[in-house]
Amino acid sequence: MSKKRLVVLSGAGMSAESGISTFRDSGGLWEQYRIEEVATPEAFIENPKRVLDFYNHRRKQLDEVEPNRGHQIIAELEQRFKVQVITQNVDNLHERAGSTQVLHLHGELTKVRSSKHPELIYDIGTKPIHLGDLCEKGAQLRPHIVWFGESVPAIDQAVPLVSKADIFLVIGTSLNVYPAAGLIRFAQTKCSKYLIDPHPVEVPFGMNFTVISKSAGEGMEQLFERLKKDYCI
Ligand code: APR
Repeated sequence: MSKKRLVVLSGAGMSAESGISTFRDSGGLWEQYRIEEVATPEAFIENPKRVLDFYNHRRKQLDEVEPNRGHQIIAELEQRFKVQVITQNVDNLHERAGSTQVLHLHGELTKVRSSKHPELIYDIGTKPIHLGDLCEKGAQLRPHIVWFGESVPAIDQAVPLVSKADIFLVIGTSLNVYPAAGLIRFAQTKCSKYLIDPHPVEVPFGMNFTVISKSAGEGMEQLFERLKKDYCI
């Protein structure tokens, strides 16, 4: 029998137990920084150094953190399901845990691109970039991150993935930011839907999610046991 399709939509809570702050929890990143100063195209025009420093700091943090149990179980599930991760996270912890199909909706910290020629994208790992670091055509490099007010090109790839899911898992996201949050409406009625988050998250009326009110690691342990029973795997 062919493997069932399991689609995971993850957010910042997925990486919280690895030591990366979420955005909207108390003490979250958006309490420490103003979005308009570090995560918009206008901020990059007004004060590019501040924006580059913000992302340099976050990129460097990747050297100090490890995937957690939640990431690891999602990677292990590839042995039993056809797993597609769709993440709002810009860290690389899903990949480092071993997930092979990861779509980043909001970009990737380990990549930068030309601010004038968006097709020129470079892997830089966890190295910093500075004012004066240029693409091969001479334009300033910028983080390969989707800022507020920018389009989310990967959403077009994400929609058909969600609509074909047999099992859909939403984990560690407050579902505040669109278009990512709107993806859940594309899950079919017959698809089994799970939501893992230690805090209440609002889902559209009538959508039948089984809620596991746990952190990512514990919640994934519980879901793994449940899937093993339900799918006899
Ligand atoms: N395990 C699982 N979930 C957790 C944990 C944990 N240990 N700790 C917190 N959470 C949950 C919170 O309860 C919340 O619902 O993670 C969610 C984090 O929500 P946000 O901080 O809003 O993060 P996210 O939904 O990923 O934000 C979406 O907003 O700022 C932008 O581009 C940024 O990708 C980000 C987008």
